[in-house]
Amino acid sequence: MTGLEKAQAILQRKNGKRLATLTAYDYPTARLLDEAGVDLLLVGDSLGMVVLGFPDTTHVTMEDMLHHTAAVARAKTKAIVVADLPINSYDTPAMALDNARRLIDAGAEAVKLEGGIRQAEKVHAITTMGIPVCGHIGMLPQRVLEEGGYRKKGKTPEQASALLEGANALVEAGVFAIVLESVIPEVARHLTAELSVPTIGIGSGGESCDGEVAVITDLLGSYPWFVPPFAQPEADLSSSITQAVTAYRNRIQKP
Ligand code: KIV
Repeated sequence: MTGLEKAQAILQRKNGKRLATLTAYDYPTARLLDEAGVDLLLVGDSLGMVVLGFPDTTHVTMEDMLHHTAAVARAKTKAIVVADLPINSYDTPAMALDNARRLIDAGAEAVKLEGGIRQAEKVHAITTMGIPVCGHIGMLPQRVLEEGGYRKKGKTPEQASALLEGANALVEAGVFAIVLESVIPEVARHLTAELSVPTIGIGSGGESCDGEVAVITDLLGSYPWFVPPFAQPEADLSSSITQAVTAYRNRIQKP
């Protein structure tokens, strides 16, 4: 299946089985997640924090994204591989298209970028060239410094209607899905009901969207230093790693 066909299949899940999405930043994780049946694999710029050790996503570069996208793409997954356009890589429509093409050449099958109405022209520039785009509205991690933190969105009627306006502009520009990050559940449910493309929630209430996305380290409990309040870990890999390494050290160093 081509990337476009995979994106079309995701779009058609609007009223079907909910979409299970996870981030992946490397080959073995991508293979394991794909073998477990995940629908979308997101090479998220969250890699800045959970892989590269930066405090937020504003340090991530195109070179970082190309490197990790290529690693994930080598897993040749059934799941669609969506790569984030990092901060400052889509300032103009021409830049957005050029960098989207670079991510596709590295093996991505779709790209994601953050923002609503002010990104519609850039999304359109990419989708008209046959590259599938996933939108991302609500809390925008690439703007965390301007906003002074991670805040819930949609709390006021003005915010709620700006989110709907932005989402509609993205749909018109051709996105195949939209991530809703930290949108209050009531507004996330409303957006999900109104939009013709699937919504994929994170921190937006359990069942409010057509699917969910989680950062893989939150799911696996492998990044214990910061766990977002909405995370629902299904494993505690950091403890398993500590135990295994302690056992190894004891075996090597035994008197
Ligand atoms: O970078 C990322 O992992 C993301 C998800 C949080 C949606 O954009």
